[in-house]
Amino acid sequence: MIDLRSDTLTRPTDDMRRAMARAEVGDDVYGEDPTVARLEEHVAGLLGHEAALFTPTGSMANVLAVRSVVGVGQEVLCEARAHIARAELGAHGAYTGLTMRTWIHPRGQVDLATVRSMYAPDMGPFFVPTAAISVENTHNFAGGAVLPLEDLRDLREFATGVGVRIHVDGARLWNAHVATGVPLAEYGAIADVMAVCLSKGLGAPVGSLMVGSADAVAEARIWRKRMGGGMRQVGILAAAGLHALEHHVERLADDHAHARLLAEACGVDPATVDSNIVVVPRTDAADFVSAARAEGVLVAAVGPTAVRLVTHLDVSREDAEQAAAVFAKIA
Ligand SMILES: Cc1ncc(COP(=O)(O)O)c(C=O)c1O
Repeated sequence: MIDLRSDTLTRPTDDMRRAMARAEVGDDVYGEDPTVARLEEHVAGLLGHEAALFTPTGSMANVLAVRSVVGVGQEVLCEARAHIARAELGAHGAYTGLTMRTWIHPRGQVDLATVRSMYAPDMGPFFVPTAAISVENTHNFAGGAVLPLEDLRDLREFATGVGVRIHVDGARLWNAHVATGVPLAEYGAIADVMAVCLSKGLGAPVGSLMVGSADAVAEARIWRKRMGGGMRQVGILAAAGLHALEHHVERLADDHAHARLLAEACGVDPATVDSNIVVVPRTDAADFVSAARAEGVLVAAVGPTAVRLVTHLDVSREDAEQAAAVFAKIA
């Protein structure tokens, strides 16, 4: 089967498994795993932040990151289809006691005029004050859309002006970096706090990082343990992440090219595909999924009227061409 349901489905390569087998390890709850320390330092450095914290999932990295800038009874503003709002099962409300208000943009972009109008200053015991604004780059449910650097810089200027913080859900920031050539540190400069994932297009089996100031990360380390996320000889997994960062970032350009190829076969303008995700409008989404499966291609329906295709490390050029032929036939 050619599996286009998600980029989380990748399996570690032989070289990655060798790097994992060789990893030096220690008890990370004691702060004694040298491979984890190397990964955390490396990722913080790439993004131009002081520190980073290895977490089992992107969701935990997001919860730790957002809670470091938003307190009980405060709010975070984000786009309506943001992963933090839609797909983390209410974790931010449950753990942090914050609320969210959302703006809607068809491509998940920053709508600064709306954000300005939504922003709520602290007015004492009357209204929920806005503590942070969260953006997702690339935006998963908006079809892997990249957020332009100029928009992010304008948002940064606004946030600094009114004294609110910025969280970036960068689960696929690597894709944005490769799609645009914008250095990772320039994206990092937009954010007070971030989450990035190693387990999506980069192909590591597990692992994400919360990234921010040394103080925020020190506090997040305590909260990670409190939430049951203190891991022990986890350098084995950190080694997979280090391997992925060294060998699997530049190749994301191949995934983006494959996504455009698939888009074309499905009648979607490839110019609208920024990275490795294609959303295909289909009134017959469930039938499309079944027809593709019968031809050896797995895709996922996102609701009754859209299908999502995601390219990744385990989808070769030949796989993409074969899947494109299947889609052209079905269409
Ligand atoms: C944009 C985005 N953020 C966060 C996550 C959460 O990652 P995880 O599945 O590791 O919790 C995902 C997962 O798909 C995602 O797409």
